[in-house]
Amino acid sequence: MNDDRIREIAPDVRIPLLGFGTYLIPDDEAAGAVHTALRAGYRHVDTAEFYGNEAGVGEGIRRAMRSEALFRSDFFVTTKLWPGNAAWGQTPKTTETTVTSLYESLTRLGLDFVDLYLIHAPFDREQRLAQWRGLVRLREQGKARAIGVSNFDVRHLEELKAAGLPTPQANQIELHPWSQKPRLVRNLAESGIVPIAYSSLVPLATWRTAPGHDSAKSDEMRAAGSRGDSPFKHMAAKYAVSEAQVLLRWAIQKGYPVLPKSTRSERIRENADVFSFRIDDADMIAIESMDRGGGVAWAVGDPVLAA
Ligand SMILES: NC(=O)c1ccc[n+]([C@@H]2O[C@H](COP(=O)([O-])OP(=O)(O)OC[C@H]3O[C@@H](n4cnc5c(N)ncnc54)[C@H](OP(=O)(O)O)[C@@H]3O)[C@@H](O)[C@H]2O)c1
Repeated sequence: MNDDRIREIAPDVRIPLLGFGTYLIPDDEAAGAVHTALRAGYRHVDTAEFYGNEAGVGEGIRRAMRSEALFRSDFFVTTKLWPGNAAWGQTPKTTETTVTSLYESLTRLGLDFVDLYLIHAPFDREQRLAQWRGLVRLREQGKARAIGVSNFDVRHLEELKAAGLPTPQANQIELHPWSQKPRLVRNLAESGIVPIAYSSLVPLATWRTAPGHDSAKSDEMRAAGSRGDSPFKHMAAKYAVSEAQVLLRWAIQKGYPVLPKSTRSERIRENADVFSFRIDDADMIAIESMDRGGGVAWAVGDPVLAA
């Protein structure tokens, strides 16, 4: 893989900038979608215990290994610990149950290790550090080549530092032109933590429009999005690509791995074509001024994450 398509996340661990997202893909459709993505050239798949589709994702990877004659070392696979949230009536995971959770995810995936294991969200103040100790242990055991967090804000990262624990190698966060999180991104750069961008396609009118797929803030976002002409439409015409490709290319030029999700083959292929053009400096500067602050999918800073 070309050097401009990967980024080092840990010593000897390189993350492909183009990943395939699988949130809201049911388990029985995940194998087909993941197989299509891997045939289209994706080499990085993002799933989670919470998505309930690790078995299908694993099956899709095995299908691709057979049909494309690929090896396990050709793929980068991320899954995430569901930490448990007492506010939702769940039992927060301890160090021990964190370790068990990855073993269960690996069984569902049919893999011996993942390339990246993340804490899905910083729900529980009491157990966050215990869960992070579990991830550190799993890396030592070789069950996760790299470890990180997701939806962590600066203060959650500071908490790990203050406890003298190892620094996460990645933080998967909602990042797109409408939610650029400059303070957090600067902090990640200073700490050597790779930002991984999720929900890159939020500014599109087609983002999560299927019934039950929207987010708590979808209406607010659509109202904002419908004001005026989309600047991404103009850029898409200028570069002869789609708006989705512009949004993904923006993240890649910023050095953020992306995780576009689709269950439609033509979109899966379109979203993979992000290395054949470049957004010019003037447009990158114009996009910088589009930040609207917080996220949409479920934002860092949401009360539920603030505990
Ligand atoms: N860590 C976290 O808390 C977290 C949170 C959210 C997401 N994620 C990860 O990030 C991945 C991506 O985020 P996401 O699923 O929220 O959103 P996304 O990938 O930014 O957008 C997906 C939505 O856009 C549509 N779409 C995809 N390609 C398109 C195209 N070329 N043109 C027009 N519409 C297109 C999809 O519809 P169709 O499927 O119908 O094509 C779907 O509604 C997730 O799947 C998951 O792996 C992580």
